[in-house]
Amino acid sequence: MMNYAVQADGLTVARGPRTVLRHLRFTVPRGQITGLLGPSGCGKSTLMRSIVGTQAKVTGTLNVLGHPAGHPTLRSRIGYVTQAPSVYDDLTVRQNLEYFAAILAPGRPAADRRHEADRVLADVDLTSHADALAGNLSGGQRGRVSLAVALLGTPELLVLDEPTVGLDPVLRRDLWTLFHDIAATRGATLLVSSHVMDEAERCHRLLLMREGEILADDTPDALRTRTGTDTVEAAFLRLVDEAAAAHRTQQTTRAQETTR
Ligand SMILES: Nc1ncnc2c1ncn2[C@@H]1O[C@H](COP(=O)(O)OP(=O)(O)O)[C@@H](O)[C@H]1O
Ligand SMILES: [Mg+2]
Repeated sequence: MMNYAVQADGLTVARGPRTVLRHLRFTVPRGQITGLLGPSGCGKSTLMRSIVGTQAKVTGTLNVLGHPAGHPTLRSRIGYVTQAPSVYDDLTVRQNLEYFAAILAPGRPAADRRHEADRVLADVDLTSHADALAGNLSGGQRGRVSLAVALLGTPELLVLDEPTVGLDPVLRRDLWTLFHDIAATRGATLLVSSHVMDEAERCHRLLLMREGEILADDTPDALRTRTGTDTVEAAFLRLVDEAAAAHRTQQTTRAQETTR
């Protein structure tokens, strides 16, 4: 159990009248980067919200760092960056971090908060912009401020919802390098979502999702080998076709059984 940061079995989530995640079974190993990949609307954000404990109507088993998801002791052990990262535009980068540090650990001395802010600023390479207003930063820099907020308190699990969306290729590459640094130097577990399949190649492991289901839970290498393809994108399409074919076979069998 302790080798997994996340372990799900029969995980089902309803949103409104719809079941948006159906009987998911997967694991996220500790100390690695797991990519959560799939087209828009497949349920990535819903799954991430379930893991961090902010999603309603979650049923089945979902264990996070050895506790049921949403357990109060997990709050300080998980860093979460939502799809629409929120930083205060009228505060400087450092003020944003000191503010969130104060919320995370109320009652800590101001000097400690400043030290913590400096540390995460260095982690995301924004020390030179510490005194800039967040509202004056570029999209990529704002994304890094959000990541810095998630790094406060040294969480064991980082859940990052489409952190590279809308960034240019250089910034995307730099951010992935940063993710690998965080995993390697801190032994942290990262769960990173994307709807862009080429980001898959940068992950240690992949969860491929489609329409509320997990199509594959594997390494990029194993996926390509198993499907006889050159890229994770081609592997994904192959798995989609296989699932559709299996579905058709099932329907044909059922139709034959009813006419029998
Ligand atoms: N508040 C809601 N009520 C009902 N359905 C929702 C709600 N929010 C999201 N959904 C649906 O849940 C599905 C999964 O959404 P989401 O987890 O945001 O997908 P992704 O992050 O992969 O784009 C989508 O089909 C979406 O339309
Ligand atoms: Mg989403």
